[in-house]
Amino acid sequence: MENFISVEDVSDLKNLLVRAKAIKANPFENLALGKNKTMVLLFFNPSLRTRLSTQKAGLNLGMNVIPMNLAEGWGLEFEDGTVMNLDKAEHVKEAATVISQYADIIGIRTFAGLKDRRLDYADQVIKQFVKYATVPIVNLESAVLHPLQSFTDLFTIESFKKKERPKVVLTWAPHPKSLPQAVANSFLEWMQKTDYEMVVTHPQGYELSTEFTSGSTIEYDQQKAFANADFIYAKNWSSYEKYGKILSTNSNWMVTEEKMSLTNDAYFMHCLPVRRNVVVADAVMEDKKSLVIEQAGNRAVTAQVVLEKLLFDEVV
Ligand code: CP
Repeated sequence: MENFISVEDVSDLKNLLVRAKAIKANPFENLALGKNKTMVLLFFNPSLRTRLSTQKAGLNLGMNVIPMNLAEGWGLEFEDGTVMNLDKAEHVKEAATVISQYADIIGIRTFAGLKDRRLDYADQVIKQFVKYATVPIVNLESAVLHPLQSFTDLFTIESFKKKERPKVVLTWAPHPKSLPQAVANSFLEWMQKTDYEMVVTHPQGYELSTEFTSGSTIEYDQQKAFANADFIYAKNWSSYEKYGKILSTNSNWMVTEEKMSLTNDAYFMHCLPVRRNVVVADAVMEDKKSLVIEQAGNRAVTAQVVLEKLLFDEVV
């Protein structure tokens, strides 16, 4: 694997899942592999899980890990041919190449701006780093995709599913802030690689790009969608069509115990962070069928698989 930007970078998904199971059972088996290797993690946006789990994954492989916040005070230019006489201090051409002198792998978190769909969906920041860095790039959530989260979600479903072809429902849920589509897009992209029965439910106007919903059933009635589901995955996203807009904050879309009772005793999933009693009721979060903590724990496992594959494919 050269980079980890989307599921398309993965040549053997089954093997990735096998490695995740092995690493979960024995996270320190390859502690010597990362000796004298360094990972730099660049955060243009905040993170709790991605930052700590990727750092832990690197440490479990014996790597040195250097996280850096770029949200404030370090403006990078990404356009070609710009006259850089405004606020941008450095071009990505130099920054990516220089960081490659210090790092064997670079992780990047860069959220969507949610103002200009064309710009966001070009995923310019991550693509420019791929172009100019001379070491592998890991997507720690870009404007469009969050593959480390989605790999984790797939691994978690595979670990808990009770039938070969579970019914998995991605449900939109309300949120007071305008959020990117990246988690939902990426989840669907990874689900497209399975033969699960995939249903997406959301209010009218929250349709995701058909690139990601292809192969899924769209059901505008949330209660119908929940019927006989084996996994409920809740997530808010802002409108793709009316780009970045909040079209509804209807609390009727919150995931509740009553709605979970329509399912086939489904597991509840969310990538976190989550707004309790807005996205999901306390009772669902704290129910024994809630997998949210398991998912968060698995983030370190799947990040370790990805780092192994990027750096040591010939060994593992
Ligand atoms: N799920 C996730 O990516 O969490 P963070 O934003 O805390 O990294």
